[in-house]
Amino acid sequence: MGCLGLSLVISGPMRVPLYRTCHTEHIRNPVNLLQTSSLDVRAVTVDFQGLRAIDDVSLRLHGGEILGLIGPNGAGKTTLINVLTGFQEPTRGSVHLGGEDIGAWKPHQRSRRGLVRTFQSVLPFAGLSALENVEASGLSIGLSRAEARADAERILMEMGLGDKLHRAAGTLPFGEERRVGIARAIAMRPRFLLMDEPAAGLNDAECRDLKQIVEGISQSLGCGVLFIEHRMSLVFELCRRIQVLQLGRTLAVGTPDEIRADPKVRTAYLGQEAA
Ligand SMILES: Nc1ncnc2c1ncn2[C@@H]1O[C@H](COP(=O)(O)OP(=O)(O)OP(=O)(O)O)[C@@H](O)[C@H]1O
Ligand SMILES: [Mg+2]
Repeated sequence: MGCLGLSLVISGPMRVPLYRTCHTEHIRNPVNLLQTSSLDVRAVTVDFQGLRAIDDVSLRLHGGEILGLIGPNGAGKTTLINVLTGFQEPTRGSVHLGGEDIGAWKPHQRSRRGLVRTFQSVLPFAGLSALENVEASGLSIGLSRAEARADAERILMEMGLGDKLHRAAGTLPFGEERRVGIARAIAMRPRFLLMDEPAAGLNDAECRDLKQIVEGISQSLGCGVLFIEHRMSLVFELCRRIQVLQLGRTLAVGTPDEIRADPKVRTAYLGQEAA
């Protein structure tokens, strides 16, 4: 079992711990301590030359929570991730990690402090092996080569990719390549993981694996997950709380049942799908 006594479950014969040993301060800490920390977006507005992409949005994500962020194309979801990770400066408003205003932190400082994102696009290092890809994340947060390698091996094995360590990541089937992308994020030792459309292009079986992986990340690491996704069935299954954006504004926040039943959300986004 992992250090927090929980397992990351992958479909198939493996039932494996996410972490066998604990290396970092935030992983050594008890889950309940982590869960007292939060990531807060306070009244953020982002303007792009005449276009208001985000308009006075506030959001709170707790450690261990999976918060769904949904909304039509162009609603501002990815822009919000860019604000959180420090790649987009807000026109107004602020972002707080554990109560501390992180507005002045550079992107690399944010990722080293556990604010990590995953990308929808393909892996950046398609020519490197799966192992090297994940190892690079450990190196980027300052681990020694030996530590980064050991972490990478463990994470990939726990994600059911133990027999693919030395395959070039770009030659893996799509679902496995996406899993390597998530392993890269886990190797950054996230406290808050921001996932931008992680299910895009996955088949139903791969979506089921993804669901278990995200649950494992939140439960085993006490990590807060911001889950941006258009595949509504997955969002409704994974998230106890969902925030809906439309044209840069918060349209609704609520439980899956509340969101499904909200006439504003049904008109703006869900249509007949939620019926
Ligand atoms: N760098 C930029 N410069 C100008 N406009 C931008 C920039 N980035 C995003 N936008 C605009 O801001 C709005 C919000 O875009 P964003 O990518 O955040 O939406 P999204 O909710 O992630 O959409 P999708 O579901 O399609 O990924 C869109 O109108 C987009 O065209
Ligand atoms: Mg987007």
